[in-house]
Amino acid sequence: MTRPARRTAPPEFDLTEADAAAELARLAAEIARHDRAYHERDAPEISDAEYDALRRRNAAIEARFPALVRPDSPSLRVGAAPAGGFAKIRHGVPMLSLDNAFVAADFQEFCDRARRFLGLKEERLAFVGEPKIDGLSISLTYEGGRLVRGATRGDGLEGEDVTANVRTLATIPSRLKGHAPERIEIRGEVFMTKADFLALNAAQEAAGQKIFANPRNAAAGSLRQLDARITAARPLSMFAYAMGEASDIPADTHWQWLDRLRHWGFTVNPLSKQLASEDDAAAFQAAMADQRAALPYDIDGVVYKIDDLALQRRLGFVGRAPRWAIAWKFPAEQATTVLEGIEIQVGRTGALTPVARLAPVNVGGVLVRNATLHNEDEIARKDVRIGDTVVLQRAGDVIPQIVAVVAEKRPPGALPYAFPDHCPVCGSLAIRPPGEVVRRCTGGLVCSAQVEERLIHFASRAAFDIEGLGEKTIREFHADRLIASPADIFRLPDHEAEIATREGWGETSARNLSAAIEARRRIPLARFIYALGIRRIGDTNAKLLARHYGSFASWRTQMEAAVQIGSEARSDLGNIVGVGPAIAEELAEFFAEPRNVATIDELAGLLNITDAEPAGGGGELAGKVVVFTGTLATLTRPEAKAMAEKLGAKVTDSVSKKTDLVVVGADAGSKARKAAELGVRIVTEAEWRTLAGEPL
Ligand code: IVH
Repeated sequence: MTRPARRTAPPEFDLTEADAAAELARLAAEIARHDRAYHERDAPEISDAEYDALRRRNAAIEARFPALVRPDSPSLRVGAAPAGGFAKIRHGVPMLSLDNAFVAADFQEFCDRARRFLGLKEERLAFVGEPKIDGLSISLTYEGGRLVRGATRGDGLEGEDVTANVRTLATIPSRLKGHAPERIEIRGEVFMTKADFLALNAAQEAAGQKIFANPRNAAAGSLRQLDARITAARPLSMFAYAMGEASDIPADTHWQWLDRLRHWGFTVNPLSKQLASEDDAAAFQAAMADQRAALPYDIDGVVYKIDDLALQRRLGFVGRAPRWAIAWKFPAEQATTVLEGIEIQVGRTGALTPVARLAPVNVGGVLVRNATLHNEDEIARKDVRIGDTVVLQRAGDVIPQIVAVVAEKRPPGALPYAFPDHCPVCGSLAIRPPGEVVRRCTGGLVCSAQVEERLIHFASRAAFDIEGLGEKTIREFHADRLIASPADIFRLPDHEAEIATREGWGETSARNLSAAIEARRRIPLARFIYALGIRRIGDTNAKLLARHYGSFASWRTQMEAAVQIGSEARSDLGNIVGVGPAIAEELAEFFAEPRNVATIDELAGLLNITDAEPAGGGGELAGKVVVFTGTLATLTRPEAKAMAEKLGAKVTDSVSKKTDLVVVGADAGSKARKAAELGVRIVTEAEWRTLAGEPL
């Protein structure tokens, strides 16, 4: 029977209920993946129009089958801006940073400068001292006493609209208690406690999800969620400490201002203290340093603010920091412990990395068991021996460093560490080429450690991005011989029933894994190249290669030809801007190995590798090597980089003869000088925006 109306009806009318449920699941996963590509990697894979079409299809099916709306439906997510991102918000008053003091003399110098500026002689300056929490600053706007807007700091001028997210924090009042100015902007620090950070990481690890490097990153990652329900589930708090734009200023001193904040319903750090003099400030600094390790959250110093707001107004700002406040930082946290052993880890490219195994020790509130030892030269330089008592230091990040050995405590008979010359995993010879610091296992495909690391890289976010196939799962599947090569990953759906019976799995999670794998059979060429994990072919070089060769077939043919030294293909490869001879050598070496070529061909048979888009319309900028230096006022570095890459330019860190363009922001230093010396073209941020077709 033919039903003419069907032909013109929207496709969702053709779906059975079961099909619709499956399609909504697929759309939820796909849209979430594109959201991540856009927000977390700044690397969208589809156009805004294609993205909108996915969302529209999701909405249309939901309208037809309202009972099937999923709890993770993209339509329930906030941030309905064109590509699902956070809207940008311009701060009424820029959110600035603070100058740092490291020792008492720096603090003294800050006080003397303020006194000189104010024309004071010996008069004492009174301060408020506030523990400096390592979190992320937030700006909250209240109108008529109601919270109307929350924004991240962003680049200081423009932040992201996280209103829906901040509303989920219990420490952020949605209405100010008592009398409040018509319009006021409150600033403070959003943070996560050390205990909550460790618990979150443990849960993330168990779920095969991203681990955060420190509480600061965890707080930022938790607040900047498109789905505000994720933020709500994360243990975030805020301490209020500053004022932005205000219709009238309800205080004469900073201390009174903090009091107002408390009355309105904010939490002010209870350790904040009024200090009558510089000496009091120095005593407070010492007291806080003593308390630091016992505090439930990380602090990296104390912020001192001149208490009198009239003086603050007179002092004003210089550059991006106030003259009336300073962050007096603590020295890095240190502890001593015993080095119980040195373990050699073997990485994806065979690099042997020594890791120190330590008697567990508390460093600034974090229990430390491991520390990096970098490489064999580093061990020799510090003469670190097993059994030694070592001084550990944790500065910001969670991975601590070994600073020194306590020589007096060396046990008798401790021998200098002999770095292995064979791979501890596969037993192959490990060699260290002249001039390099890294020793590498030569086992290649026979080395199971390398194979495992390559599989992990292959499925990782920036590569195939297979949800549910995290590091832990891959190690497990590899050990149990479910996967031995990347191609095996695409055969996992055939083993779905078996996976469902594994410990920690079940039918749903096994089915989700199969769906996630199926969803990734279509892969852009650049990601495919990156996923192979060829040495020196990171994300940027993979993109350059993909753009240059366009299709998988063309890349594959040219690479095989490039194996021949002196071939046309080899010199063409060397001519791609930014690729250079070392990378050409690496690629040729990879393709010279028949097992690598066989793996690639096997994958190509299982996948749909999509062609790369040729370098964007940027015309003038396509193929150019660009360096950004100094502080940019309107762009973050990742934004600037994405902008350049979109136009086909390559962004590098250092200035050389190969550099075509140097974009200088505020306080540009040696790179700008070097560019001038080399005669490289230098442009301002505004000129760059014009060149890139996005003028201010
Ligand atoms: S006042 C113009 N007070 O430190 C004054 N900042 O290094 C700007 N911070 O971006 C900030 N605790 O994220 C201030 N009690 C405190 C602070 C604090 C932490 C952070 C804030 C700021 C950064 C500047």
